[in-house]
Amino acid sequence: MAFPTMDSIYIPSPAKITKVRQLTALEKVFTVELPQGQSLGHKPGQFVEVSLLGIGEAPISISSSPSRSNGTFELCVRKVGDVTTAMHNLGEGATIGVRGPFGTGFPLEKFKGRDILVAAGGLSLAPVRSVIHQVFDERGSYGRFIILYGAKTPSDLLFTDELEMWSKRDDVEVLVTVDRGDANWKGNVGVITTLFPKISISPRNTIAITEGPPIMYRFVLMELLGKGIPEGQIWLSLERRMKCGVGKCGHCQINGLYCCQQGPSFSYAQIKGVEEAL
Ligand SMILES: Cc1cc2nc3c(=O)[nH]c(=O)nc-3n(C[C@H](O)[C@H](O)[C@H](O)COP(=O)(O)OP(=O)(O)OC[C@H]3O[C@@H](n4cnc5c(N)ncnc54)[C@H](O)[C@@H]3O)c2cc1C
Ligand code: FES
Repeated sequence: MAFPTMDSIYIPSPAKITKVRQLTALEKVFTVELPQGQSLGHKPGQFVEVSLLGIGEAPISISSSPSRSNGTFELCVRKVGDVTTAMHNLGEGATIGVRGPFGTGFPLEKFKGRDILVAAGGLSLAPVRSVIHQVFDERGSYGRFIILYGAKTPSDLLFTDELEMWSKRDDVEVLVTVDRGDANWKGNVGVITTLFPKISISPRNTIAITEGPPIMYRFVLMELLGKGIPEGQIWLSLERRMKCGVGKCGHCQINGLYCCQQGPSFSYAQIKGVEEAL
């Protein structure tokens, strides 16, 4: 059962920050606990609206998987504006407001038995981490598992400890790249599309999940389609400015498509013909 955050869908429920971890200069991971140890009841790909009194509200993806919830969930927050900067100033024990979970999430149940290819750029490793953990925790239910991740520089890479751990597993292929290396970087240099020639896949059996900045989608989609993955098997997440998160205000609308409610996870087949979606 989903977390009953509110009597009204507009009223946030108080939730406690139990842990804060600095990942990079701009990103922190917050572990958040709901009242009475309730489970958020989310799916990978969903988001919550986080609010701070007197400051505002912002949509933030849930970075932890349902399989690892234990009465808490994780948010990876990049400090960019009012709400996120104020949140970065909060420590353990602080209270934030939470509405959600919202959005449809990725239909992982339908992907069982298939090979999973994840391609994430920059901050977007945070939301797809929820998918990654879920797949690891149900590893026997999926076929091959490939993770491609790109960031601007080595110091922008998120969850480096987990990337290292995943790379050591023999049931997943992990390929990481940075746009610009530094003196210590021994890995691939180049945008995420430079990783695609290094992998071979069975396109008919592969589900691709990609998240990243809009410019990345254009080129990653070309690679995925070029490898022969059917449009209905390519999934991505559309980020738009959101307010209500529940299909009422229209802020997130793209030509009649409500990103907050019908997405933000869509198959390419669903959004291909929608003008301005990509
Ligand atoms: C579904 C979804 C999931 C998301 N998940 C995450 C996540 O997991 N982690 C994360 O860090 N972020 C996430 N975001 C992005 C996050 O919601 C935005 O960055 C949000 O705006 C941050 O709120 P803020 O109040 O801190 O920033 P704001 O104050 O809204 O500022 C955000 C940016 O917009 C600029 N800006 C603000 N107002 C204006 C204006 N009037 N005109 C032009 N530019 C302006 C600011 O300079 C800043 O660069 C997600 C967004 C969506 C839609
Ligand atoms: S954010 Fe209000 S309708 Fe989507």
